Amino acid sequence: MAFPQNFLQEIKNRISVSDVVGRKVKLQRRGREFVGLSPFKPERTPSFTVNDDKQFYHCFSTGKHGSVFDFLMETEGLSFLEAVEALARQAGLEMPQADPQAAEKAQRQSSLIDVTQAAAGWFADQLNRPTAQAARAYLENRGVSDALAKDFGMGFAPSARRGLVEFLQARNFTIDMIVEAGLAIKPDDGGADYDRFRDRIIFPIHDARGRVIAFGGRAMQADARAKYLNSPATPLFNKSAVLFNFARARQPAYDAKTVLVTEGYMDVIGLARAGITHAVAPLGTAVTEEQIRLLWRLAAEPVMCLDGDQAGLRAAYRAIDRTLPLLKAGYSLRFAMLPAGKDPDDLVREGGAEAMQNVIGRALSMIDLLWEREVEASPWDTPERAAALKQRLRAAVQQITDPDVRALYAQDIKARLDRLLGEKGVPYRASNGRVAPSHRQAWRRQSAKSETRRSNIAQGSGIPPREALIVLCVINHPDLVQKHRDLFERLVFETSSLDKLRFAIIDYADAFVAPLAESAAGLDNEGLTGHLKATGTGELVDQLRQMPEALTLGFVRQDSNLDIVEAGWLEVVELHHTLKTLMDERAEAEADFAIDSTQENFERLSAIVNQIAALEQRNDKTLT
Ligand code: UTP
Ligand code: MN
Repeated sequence: MAFPQNFLQEIKNRISVSDVVGRKVKLQRRGREFVGLSPFKPERTPSFTVNDDKQFYHCFSTGKHGSVFDFLMETEGLSFLEAVEALARQAGLEMPQADPQAAEKAQRQSSLIDVTQAAAGWFADQLNRPTAQAARAYLENRGVSDALAKDFGMGFAPSARRGLVEFLQARNFTIDMIVEAGLAIKPDDGGADYDRFRDRIIFPIHDARGRVIAFGGRAMQADARAKYLNSPATPLFNKSAVLFNFARARQPAYDAKTVLVTEGYMDVIGLARAGITHAVAPLGTAVTEEQIRLLWRLAAEPVMCLDGDQAGLRAAYRAIDRTLPLLKAGYSLRFAMLPAGKDPDDLVREGGAEAMQNVIGRALSMIDLLWEREVEASPWDTPERAAALKQRLRAAVQQITDPDVRALYAQDIKARLDRLLGEKGVPYRASNGRVAPSHRQAWRRQSAKSETRRSNIAQGSGIPPREALIVLCVINHPDLVQKHRDLFERLVFETSSLDKLRFAIIDYADAFVAPLAESAAGLDNEGLTGHLKATGTGELVDQLRQMPEALTLGFVRQDSNLDIVEAGWLEVVELHHTLKTLMDERAEAEADFAIDSTQENFERLSAIVNQIAALEQRNDKTLT
C-alpha cells in the first residue's frame, strides 16, 4: 500500500529513532549521536550509532543502516506495513485507508477482532472455573502448567450450548457477527444458534500483530469424534496464511536466528516448556507458499521438524516441491527428522531441550534432502535407470525460478551425479542378478562430509599414508571387508583414487559374498585382486603393495594372523575416523571463531587442535 509521503514523515517526526532502538539496545549519548553495541552482531566495542536529527541508525560493524521502520523490520521481523502500523499506533496516528472499500473491510475486520478478542478472554476465564476441573487436570497431565497455559492464552469451552453466545450478546455483539467470527453455528433449518466450541481446551490463534483471530479446540477424550476442531475460514482467518505462535515467536526467532516449524499446537507449547520459544506450526495442513514467505520473515533458513516416519518424510518431500520455485539467494529450508513416531512435544518431554537441539543440529539442507529423495526413489544401477535419476533431478532443478540459485543447484547436482555414477559414468554394480545394495548406502557415500580431495596417494609430508594402509590391509585380508563392511564403507577418505579403490572392494564383496557364503568359503585374495585389475585399479594396488609398510607393519602383512590383523586394522580405522571427525569440527570451529572471535569460540577451537595433535602422535606411533 502506498502511503501519503507526509504520513511516514509524520511518524518519524513524532517518534525518535533512539526511543525505538533504546528498547533493544543500551544507548549512550555521544555528542549529537547515541552509541551502543550492535544488535546485529556480537561485539565488545560499540559500533552502532543512532542519529535522531537525521532520523537514522547506522551500524559500522555490519554496515546496516536505516530508519525506525527498517529497525523494526530488521529486529522484529515485521513487514514494512506492520512496522508502519506499529509505529503509527505508538505515535497516535490513524492508518490512512487506501480506498473506501479497504476502509470498510478494515472496519469490519477490526470489529470482528473485537468479537474474537472478547471470546478469548471468556475462554481463558472459563479455565479457572469449577466446571473446568477436568480441563485443568488434562493440561496438568500433559505437563502444561498454569503459567504456560496463561502464556499461550489457553482457555476452556464449557459444554453449555450457548455459553459464549450469551456472553457475547450481553456485550452487544450481534449473532451475525458472532457467526461471522466463526464462534457460533446457525443451523440452516432455522434452529437455534449455538457455540461452535464446546467441552474443549481452547488454543487461541493470533495474527502477525498478536491479535486473536481464530481458535483451535482440542477434545479431551481420546475417542472424541474430532481431536481438534478449528475456526472455519472467516474474514479474519485464512488457515493457509497463518502460523500458530507466529507473533510470539518473532523476537525469539530473531534472537536465535532460526525458527522451528512443527506440526501442531502441542508441539509449540511443549517446546516452549523446554525453553524453546522460537517455534511455530501450520494449522493441520502442509506448509503453504504463504506460510513459507511468513517464515522467511523470521529467519533465512527455517527448520522443518518432521516425524522421522514415512509420513514425515513425505511431508518433507512435499515441502521441497512447494519451496523450490520460491528459493532465493540466502533463503531456504532445513529439515530435521525426529525419531520415528515422536513429535517435538514427546522428544523434549523425554530428553529436554538438548534432545531437540541434537535433532536440529543434524538437519539436512534442501539440496541434501532433494538428492536423497531422488536417489532413494529407485535404483540407478543401469545406464537407463541412472538416466532416469538424472532426469528427475533436472526436472526438480528446473522448478527453481531464481537464476543464481538454479545455476548453483544444477552445478552441485552435476557434481554429485558424477561422484555417484563414477567420473566416466560406468561403474554400475556388477549385474549378477543381485539387487544393488540399499541405495541409502550411496547416499551415505555422498553425504559423508565432502572435503577437498587429493588426487593421488603421494603424501609427501612424511606422514604415514593411513588411508593407503587401511585399504592395503583389506586387500591383503579380504575377511576384513566381510566382517566390517559397513564400518569400512562409512569412512571418509581424502584421497580420491583410494576412495575409488575402497568402493571397488566393497562392490566386489557385495556382489560375491552371497554365492561364496553358500559354499562356506571366505572372500579370496586372488579373486579380489583379479576383480580390481579388471576395474582398472590394479596399478594402484601394485603401488600399495610396494610401500615399505606393506612388509614392516605387522597388521598389514599378508602372512599375519587374522587376530593381529583385525585388532591393528580396527585401531587404525578408529583413529582415522576420530581424526576426520575432529578435523571437520576444527573447520567448523575455525569458521565460527573467524565470524565471532569470542573467548568461548577460541577455547573450543584450541581444545580441538590439542586433541588432533595428540591423536596425530598416536597415529605416527601406530603406523611406524
Ligand atoms: P497432531 O495430531 O500432531 O496434534 O496434529 P498435536 O498438536 O500434537 O496435539 P496432541 O499432542 O495430539 O494433543 C497436528 C495439528 O494438526 C491439526 C492441529 O492444528 C494439530 O495441532 N489437527 C489435528 C486438526 O486440525 N484436526 C485434527 O483432528 C487433528
Ligand atoms: Mn502431539
